[in-house]
Amino acid sequence: MWWEKAVFYEIYLPSFADSNGDGIGDFNGIKERLPYLKQLGIDALWLTPFYPSPKIDNGYDVSDYCDVDRQYGTLQDLEELIQVAKKSGMHVIIDVVFNHTSTQHPWFQSALQSTEDKKRDWYIWRDRPNNWESFFGGSAWEYDEKSQQYYYHSFAKEQADLNWHNPAVKHAIFQILDFWIKKGIDGFRFDVINNLTVSQDFKDNPVDETRRQIHQNDVNQPGVLAILKEINAYIKNCNPELFTVAEISSDDLKCIEQYVGAELFDTAFNFNLGSQEKLNLNYFASQYEAMNTAAEKLPTLFFNSHDMSRSWERLADKNVDVYYLLIVLLTINHGITFLFQGEELGLGDFLAANLTDIRDIQAKNKYFELLPSDGEVRAIAAANLVNRDRSRGMLPFNIKGWIGSAKVNESEKVIMAGYKALIALRHKEGPFLPLEKIQAENDLLSYWSGDIHVILNFSEKPRQIELLEDRPWQTLWSHNGPYLAKNKIYLPERAGWIGKRN
Ligand code: NOJ
Ligand code: CA
Repeated sequence: MWWEKAVFYEIYLPSFADSNGDGIGDFNGIKERLPYLKQLGIDALWLTPFYPSPKIDNGYDVSDYCDVDRQYGTLQDLEELIQVAKKSGMHVIIDVVFNHTSTQHPWFQSALQSTEDKKRDWYIWRDRPNNWESFFGGSAWEYDEKSQQYYYHSFAKEQADLNWHNPAVKHAIFQILDFWIKKGIDGFRFDVINNLTVSQDFKDNPVDETRRQIHQNDVNQPGVLAILKEINAYIKNCNPELFTVAEISSDDLKCIEQYVGAELFDTAFNFNLGSQEKLNLNYFASQYEAMNTAAEKLPTLFFNSHDMSRSWERLADKNVDVYYLLIVLLTINHGITFLFQGEELGLGDFLAANLTDIRDIQAKNKYFELLPSDGEVRAIAAANLVNRDRSRGMLPFNIKGWIGSAKVNESEKVIMAGYKALIALRHKEGPFLPLEKIQAENDLLSYWSGDIHVILNFSEKPRQIELLEDRPWQTLWSHNGPYLAKNKIYLPERAGWIGKRN
């Protein structure tokens, strides 16, 4: 399939490229940047939500699934973008948010009218709330004065969860999928799709010893897989080449993998690797090992997204050589590569100095939770720890922004060259087979994929190791001057080598 050795590029629309000077990224801005993406080697774009939205969660609160927010341009601008991208050989997938709608969506507005309304049962209502917590903090239930009932929202109170136990919801969603398939898109990224159904007995969730809630009854519920199979069958019946990727709100590989397979999603985001707080090679090696056991479950390879601190800070600790070696793990590896806008430039986090800088609802909630007890300085610091704005800073080629700018990297040219070279190598040698002989020792990581051998020295010390096979090697890529002598390889500090056996 076209996506197996592809490199996807996530575009967080408002922060990417602004074409009309209003400080908000837009479709025409993306169109102008297609040559830039092409020369980088990008095969496919993932567009984050561009639908009309009150933007409580910056677009993940959709009020109309079959239109675009005028801030980003017109529907025609988007159609043109899709066409131009296709002409230059790039696929386009779009983000779909079907777990919840904005409370401004006409469906929810109709449901609010009365308990007898035809759309009432499209959402989840109870006379009394249970203890379920929203993923953005606080209760997941909001009181509706008029009907004296509570509706369920697993995220913000302005994002009401759809009731997927009602088949009418599914049929409405199929029509939306149809609408976009006819516009020529090449696939979908499904937002928090394991949250789709909740347990029907509404039992309280348990809490752990630190009193943190364990989301036992509100995610990954029995029955969700059957619905997801129907959704995937619907899409693949339209066109088997359409690509589906699931966002599963978990960093547990076992949980993530159950959503991937022949009748399910083509892949899912591997947060077990992508969202790690620090670089731990032993852990990475153990995860690669585990990810290899099910060959039909092709993983994703990513270290960045619009929901987490940038890997320049988080994993590379601002070290350009470490960052360079991480590109190898993203590209010359078994799985599908997903880059996030600006990582090819080594961009750093945008950090809010005060409340007026914060746009992310999760960070705002944290700030207001802590302000009364901890005061301004601590509240801002704590908010920044969960602030998803960190990766959403405006890209540097914009003059102004709806949000502050991402931190520019002084080594951006070198980093960009690294991405280009490794993406080109991925296109030439990929797709890569499941890894073998994965080893991590003293900050040295090595693995095989078919005839390709990768050795990365993440340590501050030079290392010498014996190659397992004594044969002529073709060096495909190297960094920081590794030296090959017969069946030994000498790697200076933070050097890397990719070889192919002849
Ligand atoms: C996951 C998205 O990536 C995130 O940005 C959003 O806030 C939640 N889903 C809710 O839609
Ligand atoms: Ca604009």
